[in-house]
Amino acid sequence: ITTYPWLLALPKVELHIHLEGMLEPELMLSLARKNGIQLPFNTIGQLYEAYRFNQLQDFLDIYYQGAQVLITQQDFYDLTWHYLKKCQQQNIVHAEPFFDPQTHTARGIPFGDVIEGISAALTDAREKHGITSHLIMCFLRHLSEIDAFNTLEQAKPFLDCLTAVGLDSSEKGHPPEKFSRVFNQAKTLGLLTVAHAGEEGPALNIWSAINTLGVSRIDHGVTAIDDTKLIDYLVGTQLPLTVCPLSNVKLAIFPEMSKHCILNLLEKGVCVTVNSDDPAYFGGYLTENFYALSQSLNLTQTQAHKMLVNAIQASFANDNRKQAML
Ligand code: ADE
Ligand code: ZN
Repeated sequence: ITTYPWLLALPKVELHIHLEGMLEPELMLSLARKNGIQLPFNTIGQLYEAYRFNQLQDFLDIYYQGAQVLITQQDFYDLTWHYLKKCQQQNIVHAEPFFDPQTHTARGIPFGDVIEGISAALTDAREKHGITSHLIMCFLRHLSEIDAFNTLEQAKPFLDCLTAVGLDSSEKGHPPEKFSRVFNQAKTLGLLTVAHAGEEGPALNIWSAINTLGVSRIDHGVTAIDDTKLIDYLVGTQLPLTVCPLSNVKLAIFPEMSKHCILNLLEKGVCVTVNSDDPAYFGGYLTENFYALSQSLNLTQTQAHKMLVNAIQASFANDNRKQAML
């Protein structure tokens, strides 16, 4: 990164980052000790050993295990604060993180502890460091529609803390339309919507997220490259894709970074953005994702700049904030 100071210096916006995915091995093990949680891993070495994934599900299994060390409101604050410190270091000036409440409420952690811990850290970062943010609550798509409705119900007292709902977890076998009714209810509550689609699943899932969930953005969406009609649609509407290069290579969506389609999509005129997804698991935060593109795909400064402008436009920031970032 030292050879690319312009990457670090660029003010950046991140639109696809899971709070549970920023749980670094050190923090995971120290929280496990503090909270008396048994993990199948005892050392940082064992954790890195386990972080070899052949597909999305391999990662998700470990990611949900790791999240079990998060117990108290302060744990959620500390986790979020760790990312916001990274934002400072990497010159990320605006972020729209996801969290997965069902991972925690299923273990008996009160919904309020999760969202209040996260929101307090986001507020502190805004006041102390000027980092703006919007929080997105994701439903786990491998769980039932009823479970998602119950989660939305639990969120009702905290709507002030939320901007949007999203959809994540196992894409195969759980297409977007499974959640059209709960997304409709979220919209009636004034929430925006986004969804993971076209990560491991087909371009058809991207169409479904657009047509049945009314999303403002698609998270991942890289399989759009297989569907020329969809590419035309994405170019015409400028519906953004939040692409996560290091994640896609770690989860074998692409065999290596030089085969990643992000710059093809960009050159076709799709509104693509660069994001880190789960940086503690995939080997890099936002700057490292840009860096990987510059190393393997000869990303130019013009292309990097275009994708950052895309991210500002695609964000849920208000017009004043967008202007200030442009
Ligand atoms: N949850 C965290 N990271 C995810 C990803 N890349 N895909 C689906 N669900 C996720
Ligand atoms: Zn994701």
